[in-house]
Amino acid sequence: MNSKDTRTQFLNFFKGKEHKIVPSAPMVIKDDPTLLFTNAGMNQFKEYFLGISQPKSSRVVDTQKCLRVSGKHNDLEEVGKDTYHHTMFEMLGNWSFGDYFKEEAITWAWELLTEVFKIDKDSLYVSVFEGSDDADQLKLDTEAFNLWKGIVPEDRIIMGNKKDNFWEMGDQGPCGPCSEIHVDIRSKEDKAKVSGASLVNQDHPQVVEIWNLVFMQYNRKADGSLENLPAKHVDTGMGFERLCMVLQGVQSNYDTDIFTPLIREIETITGSGYGKNEEIDIAIRVISDHIRAVAFSIADGQLPSNTGAGYVIRRILRRAVRYGFTFLNTKEPFMFRLVNVLTDSLGDAYPELKEQKQLIENVIKEEEHSFLKTLDQGLLLLDTIIKNTKGKTVDGGKAFELYDTFGFPIDLTALILSEKGYQLDEAGFNAAMQKQKNRSKSASEISKEDWEVLQDDNEQEFVGYDMLDVEVKITKYRKVVSKKDGTQFQLVFNLTPFYAEGGGQVGDKGYLEDTHGDVVYITDTKKENNEIIHFAKNLPKHLGESFKAVVDKKQRSRTEANHTATHLLHQALREVLGKHVEQKGSSVHSKYLRFDFSHFSKMTPEELQEVESFVNARIDGHLQLQEERNVPMKSAIADGAMALFGEKYGDAVRTIRFGQSIELCGGTHVKNTGDIWQFKIKSEGAVAAGIRRIEAITGDAVKDLHIDNDKLLSKIKVVLGNTQDPVRSVSGLQEENNNLKKQVAELLKDKAKNLKGDLRSELKEINGVQFLAKKIDLDAAGIKDLSFEMGSNKDNLFLLFGTEQNGKALLSCYISKELVASKGLNAGTIVRELGKYIQGGGGGQPFFATAGGKNPEGINEALAQAESYLG
Ligand code: SER
Repeated sequence: MNSKDTRTQFLNFFKGKEHKIVPSAPMVIKDDPTLLFTNAGMNQFKEYFLGISQPKSSRVVDTQKCLRVSGKHNDLEEVGKDTYHHTMFEMLGNWSFGDYFKEEAITWAWELLTEVFKIDKDSLYVSVFEGSDDADQLKLDTEAFNLWKGIVPEDRIIMGNKKDNFWEMGDQGPCGPCSEIHVDIRSKEDKAKVSGASLVNQDHPQVVEIWNLVFMQYNRKADGSLENLPAKHVDTGMGFERLCMVLQGVQSNYDTDIFTPLIREIETITGSGYGKNEEIDIAIRVISDHIRAVAFSIADGQLPSNTGAGYVIRRILRRAVRYGFTFLNTKEPFMFRLVNVLTDSLGDAYPELKEQKQLIENVIKEEEHSFLKTLDQGLLLLDTIIKNTKGKTVDGGKAFELYDTFGFPIDLTALILSEKGYQLDEAGFNAAMQKQKNRSKSASEISKEDWEVLQDDNEQEFVGYDMLDVEVKITKYRKVVSKKDGTQFQLVFNLTPFYAEGGGQVGDKGYLEDTHGDVVYITDTKKENNEIIHFAKNLPKHLGESFKAVVDKKQRSRTEANHTATHLLHQALREVLGKHVEQKGSSVHSKYLRFDFSHFSKMTPEELQEVESFVNARIDGHLQLQEERNVPMKSAIADGAMALFGEKYGDAVRTIRFGQSIELCGGTHVKNTGDIWQFKIKSEGAVAAGIRRIEAITGDAVKDLHIDNDKLLSKIKVVLGNTQDPVRSVSGLQEENNNLKKQVAELLKDKAKNLKGDLRSELKEINGVQFLAKKIDLDAAGIKDLSFEMGSNKDNLFLLFGTEQNGKALLSCYISKELVASKGLNAGTIVRELGKYIQGGGGGQPFFATAGGKNPEGINEALAQAESYLG
């Protein structure tokens, strides 16, 4: 059965059991401080398990895009080495929220596998949680055991320990015992030799877990203890790629129709065949796996970057590029060429891939390109490290520096070293790595106490679209301590006017006031598990009483002006640049707004002007806010509202309309565009290949800008001697400056002429070469003139000059053409290599080249190395 049919049959089977089919949540998680990526199907349902809110349907089924590359579930380093782990994979799941429990979950799983998918019963094993004698003192899951006993012979039921059969999402949160279903796909002969039961959970590539049925019944608290959840739930997760392997009768996930088209394409591009050599096979598996993780992340709006989720994506992509570089000899970007095949096979199930194909390709290509450049530079630096190594072991600290500052992969370093007969001081590398990890861990460490519940009121209400102050009660609170923010208290209210950070808009600030006149400031508002959490530096004194909760109106209204302006900007960009423009991220603050969008070239000043005018015309038009809540998603889309990729929408949405601008939006807005007063673009630039960013301001910030500009102009006039015409004065100064520059250049030329004589007498003869390496006080042009004049009637001259100009370093190398030919010397290579001492680079011709750098301190060292080229 092909993978498309397998997916559909799974969903339809549970639909037949009254489950509602729901879409996959985005793989990249926004607005959840505890997780970067969806790592299990249950993430999007956490709030239901915790009893924070009630689901609309108590039975759902889905296929979820998951990524296991960070945090508790991290398979990254395994991927490619075996045939059944992945970074990105699809998890098929059926869910019961306080509805059915173990009996139905077990019976239906068995029915689907053996009757619908017709997997041979004799190849299946199941496991049951055996209990634990640690602090948790959990008992054997007899209920599951007895249920399975009615279905399979007892020798096919394996007792599983806590590691394998007790599922926990993280250090805190919902958890419970689980039953796994394993399949043995070995040949008859192999099965006869060793029993499958003994291979379950032994990392055997042909005896693998395909389905995990988790029975959520506990909540793990901050102090490590377990408490019963308010209701019992079922969370199942089946590895789609593994299921396809079984149903397609192949021995590896990579031999299913999910991966073979990608593998064929990699073979075509690289000329390396799959299935002949283990190292090449690993590389091909790594690439075919990683391209999926990267492409899906970009489709969800997460670009590779240097921090957070973006950094994880960058590392995955680089891991693939490095495997290609080392084992498939790919020295040019090539992964972007796989996107085509990927969208062909998965574009129907995941349209976000198809619709953003061009963007995904551009971003990957650009990223590959810059990493290949890094690899090139890294190789050069590694050469120098080797040159300066005494003995045969390369310092681990130096290798770490190469890894840390240049992103040069450590396994590549180790490989190159061993090829050159050197070895890496691994202990030193690990120590340096650990030191850095400890540093960043302690900076990000955060400890959360358990919630102190004051009032059982689990359906919290947000009233902040209509009210900015309201009487509230605190339903629960907890203390949170982190190095970054110190001690803070998180408060949850029964209802709240505070907007929680989300959809790009910052969280509200404000205060709580009790009837005794005591005030506590709310410094921020965020969401966790879909619950609105207010941050305060202190705990209110009279916790059980009522409070007046008041939102900071000024901050809110400035933020609203920026949010509405963001919608108008989006509309303007699509009008002025074209309908290819899509929102790729936004950040709405009280002081400014930032908007990222897809577009392939720099905007011209005219386009920027047009966009600004378009927005300002709508501000002048005093368009009234038309807000609709609880609109069915389908009719909102039919009305022209645009859904953003990577966002999670419910069945009912909120629409915000100002004239022709319609958006699906949960944020807060001005009542009338006239309230924005004015819109001004401050900058436009690139964020990544094909993605541009506009920063802009509105209202008071534009007024402030005018005031600041006025002040600046007055200051400039004073500096220019109280001139009435600053433009004329500056032009005059520029002209004068140019004349002076010319005079200085003449003087320097004269100086160079005089220097020439002095320097000639300093030339040293080394192996038949007239040599001089010296720091001098001339500018770049002067040094060039001097070098060529000194070389004019010589055929064996080697000069290296270093100079410092305005805090920067410059190296110039001159080599007589005859020497270039006879000794194979190359000034370009020499300055590039010596450039590292001045933290820079450069190049030029074999007979004359220059390098600039930011470290003048390194000039002397570079000069000292020059002689080594004549050895
Ligand atoms: N949460 C369980 C898992 O991820 C089952 O879905 O394995």
